[in-house]
Amino acid sequence: MRDRRLTVPCVLDCDPGHDDAVAILLAAALPELDLRAITTVAGNGTLERTSENALRVATLARLDVPIAAGAAAPLSRELVTSPDIHGRTALDGPALPAPDRPLDPRPAVDLLADVLLAADEPVAVIATGPLTNVALLLRRGPEVRGRIREIVLMGGSTGPGNVTPAAEFNIYVDPEAADEVFAGGIPLRMAGLNLTHQALATDAVRARMRALGTELGRIADEWLDFFAGTYRSRFGLDGPPVHDPCAVAWLAHPDIVSSTRAFVAIERDGRFTRGATVVDLHDRLGREPNADVGLELDVERFWDLVIGALGPQEKGV
Ligand code: RIB
Ligand code: CA
Repeated sequence: MRDRRLTVPCVLDCDPGHDDAVAILLAAALPELDLRAITTVAGNGTLERTSENALRVATLARLDVPIAAGAAAPLSRELVTSPDIHGRTALDGPALPAPDRPLDPRPAVDLLADVLLAADEPVAVIATGPLTNVALLLRRGPEVRGRIREIVLMGGSTGPGNVTPAAEFNIYVDPEAADEVFAGGIPLRMAGLNLTHQALATDAVRARMRALGTELGRIADEWLDFFAGTYRSRFGLDGPPVHDPCAVAWLAHPDIVSSTRAFVAIERDGRFTRGATVVDLHDRLGREPNADVGLELDVERFWDLVIGALGPQEKGV
């Protein structure tokens, strides 16, 4: 049974998306986390798709938290989605149960603000999609900002991007939101591609998922099967990187990632570099560090956590 005195209260803003879906299952299962709400943003798919997918994954996980839909588009740009990676539904692959509840009637940022203000301690924000909702949450002002323990986000990279040579998808979709979040003064941890590409769902990892003999293990393996094709053909990776659960695992187990403090700037206007995270690892710019930048993942522990979340779960956690 979860001991709430020892857990980290958190919310998850996401754009499911195959790896977001695994992140939801991980956040639901980890005893170190007290997940209090899920909010959705357009990114891997339209807001309608990411919201429907979040409802279905939460139903699959028997996760009883409010789920609210947020931004249907970036702060000031046209939406870019990734059907080439996640498919037409943004979560192509195995059939999922129909949602067992409707979306919360509140807009996502209202739900997030309500959860933060109602909590008896600051709440961590996990962000695994474009940062539009998070930027709008920070705009709510000092009372809400003061209730955010930290932001742990999947996004950016200390090296090459994925959606362009310079930019990682989540930052690329809404660079203005990312700029506001990274400049927001809230303690921030960045799980970029340089970290998440260490979390490859190799054939051995997927065999462990199937060997669980659980519905979650089977479905996660089938999600990754869909995900794997593109990453092997486009990036030549020995298995798809499962990006978003890295942020969840890092919040629950701070020592699972080694990191460094650095100033991170968001390129908003570059002709070829829109959405790049300029990570000043060697303090060349003389700017105050604004993020803990993840560098190395304890890969074995990470997969043990993910596999554990897909195995038989305690009832009523
Ligand atoms: O670049 C990877 C990120 O973009 C992940 O969060 C994935 O779900 C997509 O949103
Ligand atoms: Ca995502």
